[in-house]
Amino acid sequence: MYTSQAVSKIILAGEHAVVYGHPAIAIPVSSLKAYASVDQSKQFQIILKDLDKVAIKADDVHPFAKLAQATQSLIGQELPAITITLKSDIPIASGLGSGAALATALTRALLNYQHINIPQHELNNLIYQSEESFHGTPSGIDNTVVVYEKPIYYIKGQAPTPINTINNFTFLIADSGISAPTKETVKAVRGLYDRDRQNIEPILNEIGQIANSIRDAIEAGNSKLIGELMTENHQLLRQLTVSSDKLDILVNAATVAGAFGAKLSGGGRGGNIIALVHPENQTTVQQALVDAGAIRVIKTSLN
Ligand code: MEV
Repeated sequence: MYTSQAVSKIILAGEHAVVYGHPAIAIPVSSLKAYASVDQSKQFQIILKDLDKVAIKADDVHPFAKLAQATQSLIGQELPAITITLKSDIPIASGLGSGAALATALTRALLNYQHINIPQHELNNLIYQSEESFHGTPSGIDNTVVVYEKPIYYIKGQAPTPINTINNFTFLIADSGISAPTKETVKAVRGLYDRDRQNIEPILNEIGQIANSIRDAIEAGNSKLIGELMTENHQLLRQLTVSSDKLDILVNAATVAGAFGAKLSGGGRGGNIIALVHPENQTTVQQALVDAGAIRVIKTSLN
């Protein structure tokens, strides 16, 4: 039986710019999750079901082994003799936060087994450290939205702010079927930034302003404006070289089919795009995305 879970996420605005201190908005997605189950065993080990056949042992140089050790040192206990099996519906390297979700499910299972509760911010710190070992310089937005399971307005190094909304917003998440590790795209943007700071900084600033405007538009319940700003955000991400032909095709297909707006979400160059739709034309946009080559389209809402 799976004893612990963690949600996935989408970034509604501000990815990449958030790494440089600009604001961003993230939304939890509960229809795609990571799960962890616990069984007694001779020694501590982690099994990544469907992902990797090899068991991770306590002393292995693996971010999840380090995470389990860090969790135990936080609570002042030795690792228990258990097998934690991780399983996930979330495609990896697709911008949906699968790394943060697996790490969160793992840590929750380890703590639940020992009947120990820690404050959310401490869990968040542990998952942030695990994200660091996976992809170098994370802003912290992925672990924060995954741990808190609430839509958040986020600035690196600050406590997340909840987002209030008077409306229900429907998003479609369309998978390009191309995997692209966030670590690589974050590195690519860093390279651009270091080489051409003068031109890149204004793009990052503009993305941050869009995140602020989207937050205001959410609070005002203005879908049309949110959609326009999302599409603008996508154009700026293209300038940061983190889009791709396939992602552009999907974004275009969604807007032509009547979505309020669309953009890539997460690291980019592959992974998913998100489109804000009116519930009445959800099916039309969904079909257009499939026709344009999406390998899967799922729905999520912000309310
Ligand atoms: C990944 O979901 C979001 C990025 O901005 C990276 C990060 O914030 O750590 C691309």
